[in-house]
Amino acid sequence: MFSDFLISSVDNALRTLTGNSRGSGRPNPAGGQDDPLLRPWDRQQAGRMMRVNHAGEVMAQALYTGQAAGTEDPDLRAVLLRARQEEEDHLRWCEDRLRELGSHPSLLGPIWYASAWAMGYAAARRGRGSNLGLVVAIENLVEEHLKEHLGGLPAEDGRSRSILEQMQADESGHASTAERLGAAPMPAPLRAALRGFSRIMTQGALWI
Ligand SMILES: [Fe+2]
Ligand SMILES: [Fe+2]
Repeated sequence: MFSDFLISSVDNALRTLTGNSRGSGRPNPAGGQDDPLLRPWDRQQAGRMMRVNHAGEVMAQALYTGQAAGTEDPDLRAVLLRARQEEEDHLRWCEDRLRELGSHPSLLGPIWYASAWAMGYAAARRGRGSNLGLVVAIENLVEEHLKEHLGGLPAEDGRSRSILEQMQADESGHASTAERLGAAPMPAPLRAALRGFSRIMTQGALWI
C-alpha cells in the first residue's frame, strides 16, 4: 500500500516539476484581460513575485500529496486530494503568468517539493487533527502572503492580480474546510518553524 502512495507521489512530483499538472480544468482567472505592463522593471518585479507564488504552489502539491499518503482515513484522503486538484489549477495559472512575463519557475523546485512532502507526511502520521491542523496553518500563512503580494504587485498588473485573488478565495476555502473537519491548532513552536521555513522559501524563490 505504501509503495502505491510512493509511486503516486513520484508521479505527482514529476508532473509538478515539469509543468504537466492537469488540474480541474477551471479557466485561468486572468481571462482575456490586457497585459499592459510595459516597463521592463515592472515585468521583472511581477515575474519574481509570481515565481514565489509558483514555488508556493509546488509546495502545496507536495504537502497535500504527503498528507494524503500519510493518512489511513480514506474520507480524509479524498478531501485532501480534492484540495490538491484545486492547487493544481493555481500551479498552472502561475506557470502561465510566469511564461507571459518571460520569467521561469524557481530552480530550487525539487528541494521545495521534497521538504514539503516530508512535512505533510509527518503531520499526517500524527493523526487526523494534526493533519488538518497543518492545512489550516499553511493556508492561513499563504493567505497572509497573498494579501501582501496583492499590495506589492505593479498597479497595472491585472492579470497576476486576478489569479492571486482566485487563489486567495480557494485557500480560504481549504482552511475553513479543514477547520470544520476537526483541525487541531498547531503548537506555537511548530507554527514558528513553519513561518521560518516559508520565509526561506519566499526569499529563495525570489532570486533563484
Ligand atoms: Fe494554492
Ligand atoms: Fe490551498
